Order: sequence, then structure tokens, then C-alpha cells
Amino acid sequence: MLKNKNIVLGVSGGIAAYKAVELLRLLKKAGAAVQVIMTENAAQFVGPMTFEALSEKQVCVNLFKDAGDASISHIRWADEADAVVIAPATANFVGKLAGGIADDALSTFIMAVTTPVLVCPSMNSNMYLSEAVQRNLKTIEKDGFGVLSPGSGELACGIEGPGRLPEPVVIFDRLVKLLKTDDLEGKRVLVTAGPTREPFDPVRFISNPSSGRMGYAIARAAEMRGAEVTLVSGPVEIDAPVNVEVVRTNTVDEMAEEVFARFDNTDIVIKAAAVGDYRPATAAEHKIKKDSETIDFSLVKNQDILRELGSRKKNQVLCGFAAETRDLQENAQKKLKEKNLDMIVANLVNCEGSGFRTTTNSVTLFSPGGKVEPLPNMEKTKLADIILDRIAGL
Ligand code: CTP
Repeated sequence: MLKNKNIVLGVSGGIAAYKAVELLRLLKKAGAAVQVIMTENAAQFVGPMTFEALSEKQVCVNLFKDAGDASISHIRWADEADAVVIAPATANFVGKLAGGIADDALSTFIMAVTTPVLVCPSMNSNMYLSEAVQRNLKTIEKDGFGVLSPGSGELACGIEGPGRLPEPVVIFDRLVKLLKTDDLEGKRVLVTAGPTREPFDPVRFISNPSSGRMGYAIARAAEMRGAEVTLVSGPVEIDAPVNVEVVRTNTVDEMAEEVFARFDNTDIVIKAAAVGDYRPATAAEHKIKKDSETIDFSLVKNQDILRELGSRKKNQVLCGFAAETRDLQENAQKKLKEKNLDMIVANLVNCEGSGFRTTTNSVTLFSPGGKVEPLPNMEKTKLADIILDRIAGL
């Protein structure tokens, strides 16, 4: 995700400095080149050697001692950086940023940076809530710095409250967002994902193998591009994307209710959920005992959520999915037309590396007017952005 990106990781002297080590690992794993700059105090918490080994670059603590010609390197790093992340940012460091003080390597470097900076404050709760720190945080936000609010919980000093450095995966996620275009800024996006479950007794249900990966990837990508995202999700085992409202549902009727309630206030709907077409006509109140050799089921048709949205559509952009095992083009184009969609993402779900439970997908995009765009097999995370590119184009 950060291939060929130059990231500068600034570490100031808080107890959470150890979390910056994990953040560095994530950045490197994502393909970024990382230059670490630490304050002298940070080096009291975690030795520069650790960062050096993981970043494969000399760490700068002191402009006059480290990184060869570091007295000017900080200007080069500032020029080359695609983004900067300060984690943790202490009360003192936030104060320096707000006051324009440049008296060590990290604060001097920051002064020369023109690319996006994410500041991750972390400190004792009372310090964090103090007038001075709150004032300084407002100032730096006004100056254009991104600020990632700390989490709440038990802090190293033993008290409970805000001040905890968010987990490295969250910081990583927000840093990636900083580097994305915000072409969906101001748009309200509703995504559905995962399977539905229709119970036939209190402990059993009819469902399908959808993992939810495609829909979750779209929700995450849309949020990264600035959209306000709601994810109406069937039961899945993947983590919720950061800063996305997740509404959990089981049955088709539950999913339909949540989707319909939001539709009028939505600009874009992407229906990636694998919605069950039928449900048991009745569900037993108690667990069905295995007394008889066979059980006969009667199934009744579920409502088609997407078809209903298509008939209610005003200015919304509506994107559906089509899961097929044959006649992809014919079936997808039929659904596109009959459900009044602006785009349909069609995939053959019985192919290797495509469809349910895989991390990759092979799809063809169909739009009204006979437009057909076959795409190569790719990671669902990458496909999510291509789908959003086409939708943004609409
Ligand atoms: N869909 C829906 N409600 C349903 C069934 C499907 O909203 N009851 C949506 C899916 O989320 C998907 C699209 O309709 O975006 C197509 O789903 P798919 O299962 O491929 O097709 P169906 O319309 O169910 O038709 P069939 O099962 O006959 O192929």
C-alpha cells in the first residue's frame, strides 16, 4: 500500500514510544522507505538501534552527530517525504509544533515539511486534557496538521482516561488515508457486505459462504477517499474498518430495514452482500430433534433489496453485484437493467481465486448502454478502489 513512498517517522519521548517500533514494522511491510527521527528523550525509552535495524537506515537523534551530514539532511528528508507521522507526540512536542519552536532534530525537520503530517498525541490524561495541550492541538490542526485523537483506557501512570496512543494498525490506516485523494469527500456511501442468515430453528440457519471481504474492502476504500460510510453487514469475522459505521444484521428483512432507513440520505449504494433468495417458511420455536429420518422444508422468497432500491432511486448511484456460475454477461446485464442499476460488478463464483471466501476476485463491470469492462484477477482491496474510481466517474 505504501510502495515507493518515503515516510518519516518522528518519535518523541513518551512511554508509548515502544509502539512506534511496531508502526515502523507495518510501514516497512507495506513497502515504504522509512527515515526515523527521534528526540533525545525518545531515545531514553527505546534505543535508536531498534529503529535502525528495522528501518535499515541510520536514525537521527541529534542533527550535529547523526546521519553524516544531518545538519542539512533534515531539509532533504523534508523535501523527499510523502508523509510524516509523529508517534507518540508528547505534550512538549505538541507545544513546540504549536509555538513554532525548532530546537532539536525532529522539531527542526518538521518546520521544513510541506507534505501531510499526522500527529498522534499520547500522554497522561490530565496532561492531555489540560488547557495548554488542548489549545495547542487546536492550533496545530488549524495550521494543517492531521491529529489522531488518543484512545481511552488504562494508562502507564495507572489512571484511566484519554491519552493512550492508538494501536499501530490504526495509526498506519490513518496515515494511508492521508496519502489518498479525497474525491468522495462529502458523499454518503452505504455498503452492504457478507452473507444473510435465515433461521429454521433457534440453533440452525440457511446461509452462504460469503466472507464479507469485498464489501468491507469497498467500505474501507470509500472512507479513505473521504466518504461518510455506513456498512450494513451480515455476520462476518473481519474487523470493522476505521471510522466506518457498522450496522450488524442477520436476516434479509433486518438488512432490508437498515438499508431502506438510510437510502434517502445516501448518495451511493454498493450492494456487495450475498443476500439469500429464500428463507424457511416457518422457523421452529425450539430446536428440531432428530426424531424423523427426513425433514421437509418449505422455502419462501425473500424481498429483493436491490430491486426495491432501484425502483425508489432518485439521484443515488446504485451499484450491484452479480454472483454467477455461468452465462456471466447475459445474467449480469439482465440484473443491471431489471434492478435499474448504474453499474454491476459480475463475477463467476465457481472459479479459482474468485468469489466467496477468497482474497482475490475476477470480475467484469457492466454499465447501462452496453459498456463492458473485464478486469484481471486482483486483490479485493485493489478492486475496491477500481470500483470506486468508476463510481466517482458517474
Ligand atoms: N440482492 C438483494 N436482495 C436479494 C437478492 C440479491 O439486494 N434478495 C442483491 C445482491 O446484494 C446483489 C444483487 O442483488 O448486489 C444480485 O444478487 P445475485 O445473488 O447475484 O442475484 P439475484 O438477484 O439474487 O438473482 P439469482 O439468484 O437468480 O441469480
